[in-house]
Formats: sequence, structure tokens, C-alpha cells
Amino acid sequence: MPDRKIAVITGANRGLGFETARQLANRGLHVILTARNLAASAAAFKQLQTGKLSVETHKLDVTSSDEVETLARHIRNTHGHLDILVNNAGVLPESSRDRGARSADPMQVTPATIMEIFNTNTLGAVRLIQTLAPLLQEGSRIINVSSGMGALNGMGSGFLGYRISKAALNVVTRVLAQELAPRQIAVNSVCPGWVRTDMGGLSATRSIEKGVETIVWLATAAEAKESGRFWRDKTHIPW
Ligand SMILES: NC(=O)c1ccc[n+]([C@@H]2O[C@H](COP(=O)([O-])OP(=O)(O)OC[C@H]3O[C@@H](n4cnc5c(N)ncnc54)[C@H](OP(=O)(O)O)[C@@H]3O)[C@@H](O)[C@H]2O)c1
Repeated sequence: MPDRKIAVITGANRGLGFETARQLANRGLHVILTARNLAASAAAFKQLQTGKLSVETHKLDVTSSDEVETLARHIRNTHGHLDILVNNAGVLPESSRDRGARSADPMQVTPATIMEIFNTNTLGAVRLIQTLAPLLQEGSRIINVSSGMGALNGMGSGFLGYRISKAALNVVTRVLAQELAPRQIAVNSVCPGWVRTDMGGLSATRSIEKGVETIVWLATAAEAKESGRFWRDKTHIPW
């Protein structure tokens, strides 16, 4: 189908990334579901194949510039362009729910852990945007899945590495929104709220469907929404 929109979603094997992939595919987009673990992406792919949706999987660890380059080559050779990029992959090793849990105490978290979180949550998005931008057409959208935990306005305590990474991701949104504005490419940050995923845990207040609502809305709205904004529940929130 020549005019089918092409979407890339990072960390799409589970949680918010998987649900975003499912909803975008259900809306007729061709979804490139990316995941760092091939077995996990195959399992996610299988779940979406049942509905005759237009989906493919691609291995992508967002900390690997080589893998991002490989993805860009694949998109260029196979599809020729890209319309939607959802930078969703993220880690929160300061949470006790994380398999490799480390201290949430801002006086204890090591610089190495902070660097590791930053490399995924912030630089992952930078790698994807810089490398895939040449493939984006006028009217394309980039959605960075951020967090209210990165908002300087009302900044809370704990989780120093994660908060730094999401505040910096918001900087990425604002700077690259200006950079890409002449090409009519919208770049926005979204806070999904506190969502019942592996990261959010069972006590979280929101369903996964509610968590992806604003991401899917920004990705599929007929007219691109404003660029360089921080959104939750389809409304601007303060940085
Ligand atoms: N849940 C919440 O309450 C909440 C709130 C605010 C913001 N967020 C943000 O929403 C996004 C999705 O979170 P979630 O709740 O869906 O978490 P999740 O269920 O833990 O999923 C995280 C996803 O990111 C992937 N990932 C981690 N590091 C990666 C890497 N280096 N390369 C590629 N993929 C990688 C994971 O892959 P593996 O399966 O291989 O680990 C997994 O698919 C994150 O950016 C998170 O910070 C979540």
C-alpha cells in the first residue's frame, strides 16, 4: 500500500511501546516494532500478526549507534521514508521493580548508573532522531516518551538518574523541535502518567491503554499538533 504511513517504535516488545505499536497498526499504519531482544520482539510480533496488521520487527538496542544505522538503511531501502518515530525505550534501574535494581537514594546512586540511564533514556532518542531525520517527510512527528518525573516544575525527590534523563530528554525535544521546524516536523514530549507496566508496577493508577492515549493522538492527528511541547492527557504541562 504506497501511502501507508510508516512508524518506528523503540522498546516495543512490552508495556507502553507494545500498546502503541498495536494501536498504530490497528489504525492502518505500517509499524516497525523494534526491540533489543530478538526473542521478545518475535513474541510481540506474533501477538500482532493475528489481526492481519501491517507490522514488521527489527532488532534495535537504542544504545547502539550501529544498530540505529542498520535500521535507517533498512527503512531507506525498503520503505524510502518514515512518518512517525516514537522514542519509547526506557529504563528505571533505581526502581526496586527493576531486575537489576539499584538504590533510589540520590546520595547513593553511582555516576555509572546515571550514565547508563542517560545512555538509554536520553541518548537513545538523540541517536534515533539524528540518524532517521533524513528519512522523515514534511508533516512527520517525533514523540519522545518522557515523564513528569523529569519536569523541573514541581521536581520531586529520589530517582536522580531517571529524573536527569527525562529532564534532558525534554531538552532534546525543545532543541530539535526548533531544528526540524523548517521541515514541518513536529517534536513533542509526552508524560503517559503513572501506568501499570513492568516499570510502573501494579499500584500505578493508569491502564496501559490510557497511558498511550496522548502518544497515539499526537502520532495520528490529521494535522500535526504544536511542536516543542510537553503533553499529558492531550494538554500542555509545564516543563
Ligand atoms: N510506566 C510508567 O508509569 C511510566 C511513567 C512515565 C514514563 N514512562 C516511560 O514510558 C516508556 C515505556 O515504559 P514502560 O512503562 O512501558 O516500561 P517497561 O514495561 O519496563 O518497558 C520498557 C521497554 O523499553 C525497552 N528498553 C529498555 N532499554 C532498551 C534499550 N537499550 N534498547 C531498546 N529497548 C530498550 C525494554 O526492553 P526489554 O524488554 O528488552 O527490557 C522494554 O521494551 C519509558 O520511556 C518510561 O520511562 C513510563
